[in-house]
Amino acid sequence: MDTFSTIASLRGYLGAEKTRGRSIAFVPTMGGLHEGHRSCIDIARGLGDLLVVSIFLNPTQFGPGEDLNSYPATLEQDIEICRQCGCDVVFTPVADEMYATEQNTWVDVGRLTEPLCGRTRGGHFRGVATVVAKLFNIVGPDVAVFGQKDAQQALVIKAMTEQLNMPVEIRLSPIVREADGLACSSRNRYLSADERRRAAGVRSALGAGLEVLRAGGRDPRSVCAAVERHLTNAGITGGEYVELLEAKELTPINTVDGRVILAVAARVGTTRLIDNLVLEVGSDVEEVLLF
Ligand code: PAF
Repeated sequence: MDTFSTIASLRGYLGAEKTRGRSIAFVPTMGGLHEGHRSCIDIARGLGDLLVVSIFLNPTQFGPGEDLNSYPATLEQDIEICRQCGCDVVFTPVADEMYATEQNTWVDVGRLTEPLCGRTRGGHFRGVATVVAKLFNIVGPDVAVFGQKDAQQALVIKAMTEQLNMPVEIRLSPIVREADGLACSSRNRYLSADERRRAAGVRSALGAGLEVLRAGGRDPRSVCAAVERHLTNAGITGGEYVELLEAKELTPINTVDGRVILAVAARVGTTRLIDNLVLEVGSDVEEVLLF
């Protein structure tokens, strides 16, 4: 496995590999690697000749007062995980090079960034889309893999590649969960033992919504109400949103039908957790990939 920390050295290496006709599968990360990242890496391995992972804690996607300074910094461990996962290349740039000059050019994907996390995390998706565009320009991947846990992010990035004609296919990994259902996240490391126990309530609350749908309920308000009740009963009172939206454009719906996303953001202690179920709702209700 080769590790590069400068843009020029990575470009030199990958440029030569591309000249030899080798395709590139890419997994961008911010480090703090966990089983969810391993799943993205496993999926990416089968999609290209060279498997590239980036580890870059991107400052522009954090707002004031968010957890940029406490985000898990585990670079050595992350590089070891990449080695174990059979990655070919790890790219670990520094912010001084990624943002070497004042950044006046931003990628703003518009309407898709407004609901859900966009409502409370102003500028977050602009930072995400901009850094992913930069990474795509540096790495030049044929395909890139993202986790469905960050479903809105995945939709934003897919829209960006389509609307800016970037020749990158976007693929998804299903959400990877701990044994009690908690979705794997770098931020789970912030949870105390008591918070960690309560945090499992986020997934079981989504399950309460799923039960309403499986029992034939098709009113989004009654589904969300069941999720909210369950969150409260699980001692999770820091709910930020519980929403059931159409899953392509993230638009509100009056009746649940077709592909929908049931999404939650809630604080357990001071830790902000997000989770979702993407569902195909017809006569049956099935968990599916977003795209
Ligand atoms: O999902 C993440 O870890 C980040 O948002 C990403 C896509 C690597 C951009 O910094």
